[in-house]
Amino acid sequence: MAINPNNSLDNNHTCYCGASGAGKTVAVKRFGLVGRNAALFDPYGDYRASRVRKLSGLGGRPVHHYKTRNGFKKAFIAAWSSGRSFAVAYQPDAKGDALRVEALWFGKLMWAASDGNRRLDLVFEETGKYTDTTGAERSILGEIASGGRKFGLVAHWVFQRPSEVPKTLIANATRYVVGEQQAMLDARRWQAELDCSIDEIVELGQLNKKRTKYFLDKTKGIGNYKKVSVSF
Ligand SMILES: Nc1ncnc2c1ncn2[C@@H]1O[C@H](COP(=O)(O)OP(=O)(O)O)[C@@H](O)[C@H]1O
Ligand SMILES: [Mg+2]
Repeated sequence: MAINPNNSLDNNHTCYCGASGAGKTVAVKRFGLVGRNAALFDPYGDYRASRVRKLSGLGGRPVHHYKTRNGFKKAFIAAWSSGRSFAVAYQPDAKGDALRVEALWFGKLMWAASDGNRRLDLVFEETGKYTDTTGAERSILGEIASGGRKFGLVAHWVFQRPSEVPKTLIANATRYVVGEQQAMLDARRWQAELDCSIDEIVELGQLNKKRTKYFLDKTKGIGNYKKVSVSF
């Protein structure tokens, strides 16, 4: 089980939110916020190899994918116990309720492996596809968000709309990478979180080009955000 709790560890949980095609996955790959030990819940295989080198795997860093629980578990345990840097992904073939079951399985395995003496980054792609409330998340996913920090867990929640994921995930993050939004409702949600203007959020979609995506990147502290772009 989770070992070596360390209350002095920082909370580095990050949310990446934007409409489809806004560049959320590109941001995970290119912002460099994912640490040297990474486990990904990647139901759509977004981190598989690509011909565009900067977008291949985790931004050029190879990611090994596994489609079965056993395959993933074995590979993860071997990698985590090796002491070497790694990136492994679980890509179950499941949808709807079954996908949530797999996400919870993944979350429990990560929780069990967590160790306050070692950072472990967890990427949850398309979180909204396997969460079922906008209220409190009482599952292991909520546990990771609220208590994972002291066991070295750093979650990266990737989702399309703030209204499709539990508030527990958003409220317990300290960094927000906000891309083009799909609706004013969502823009207003982030306006409140970032303490920016609505125009600054609306502008993101206007600035975006096919191969350059814009974001507001908020770190700890009120109003502490800046506009950034990624080209690929
Ligand atoms: N491997 C890739 N090769 C070429 N273009 C890509 C690749 N991955 C993403 N893109 C392009 O980058 C843009 C943003 O993609 P992505 O980050 O996947 O969006 P999101 O995750 O927000 O849905 C899209 O226009 C997409 O077509
Ligand atoms: Mg994506």
